[in-house]
Amino acid sequence: MSVKISDDLLSFFRDFVGDRLDDLIYCYSKPLPEAFRVNTLKVRKEVCLELLKDEGLDVVPVPFTVDGFYAKPEGVLSVSLWHMLGYVYVQGPVSMLITDLLEIEPGCRVLDLCAAPGSKATHIAQKQAGKGVLVANDVSRTRLKALASNMQRCGVVNGIITLADGRRFGYRHREFFDRVLVDAPCSSLGIGMKDWTVLKYWNPKTSIRLARLQTNLLFSGYSALKKGGILVYSTCTFHPYENEMVVSSLVEKHGDAEVVQLGLQNIEFDNGLEEWNQLRFSSEMKKTARIFPYQSGAEGFYVAKIRKRG
Ligand SMILES: C[S@@+](CC[C@H](N)C(=O)[O-])C[C@H]1O[C@@H](n2cnc3c(N)ncnc32)[C@H](O)[C@@H]1O
Repeated sequence: MSVKISDDLLSFFRDFVGDRLDDLIYCYSKPLPEAFRVNTLKVRKEVCLELLKDEGLDVVPVPFTVDGFYAKPEGVLSVSLWHMLGYVYVQGPVSMLITDLLEIEPGCRVLDLCAAPGSKATHIAQKQAGKGVLVANDVSRTRLKALASNMQRCGVVNGIITLADGRRFGYRHREFFDRVLVDAPCSSLGIGMKDWTVLKYWNPKTSIRLARLQTNLLFSGYSALKKGGILVYSTCTFHPYENEMVVSSLVEKHGDAEVVQLGLQNIEFDNGLEEWNQLRFSSEMKKTARIFPYQSGAEGFYVAKIRKRG
């Protein structure tokens, strides 16, 4: 079977990635590499790595993350006892990088506005080391079950799970959190290798519809952020409607929103766009980043880091 990509998406990609189109399609045809982090809420990193080595696993650090490792052979960890015990969390490496950007410290108050199934929420909790508070919210009751199960498996003791519409949540808790993550629902073009249907059915309306939701979520998340706090906005997709257009609208509306240079290391990425297809965005967008699968060797993401001046 070969990857089927809608005509709309092909024409967007031709324009957007140019001569990297074949590389992108090749990435879509391959499974993602298996990466994991050691859940230090349950076990010391060195102890766990030694256990995995004794099991015959070959483990190498992911160079662009703080906590990530690749594991070989693949497919072993996600069904292992270590996974069930919560010693390891199998997660895409770029997803781990997003949490690193939040600069979590033990003791801080964190809101994860769209948290299910909890890959980043459990990573945040690990960085908090049981100190401070993590509010992990999502609007989907079904997906909250997976979030709750992952939080429990990982031994998160300082987490509160809430079921609320993230578009309103932030206005009820204004300037309460030191860190806010808005990992927004998106068209998922960065993880098309997991599910080819997103490639087959994408059309521009998909991204336009999502952009409205994403903008509302971002504005709400920003309202919940304390002065001096950090918010990370991320999507696992590429379209500027869902990315620069959303972040730019926040920066233009809120004079105290400062876009922070990301300082990514050991990974290739594209700077965010200042304009696209007759749309002009804030010049601050060049401090945001778009990571394609052919650059990460894994998932694709867009990420922006914002500080609320104060
Ligand atoms: C990209 S996923 C989040 C993945 C999660 N952060 C993780 O790392 O495991 C986006 C999530 O947004 C949730 N969502 C969609 N609309 C929402 C809304 N209005 N308020 C809060 N969450 C919403 C979806 O249910 C979905 O779980």
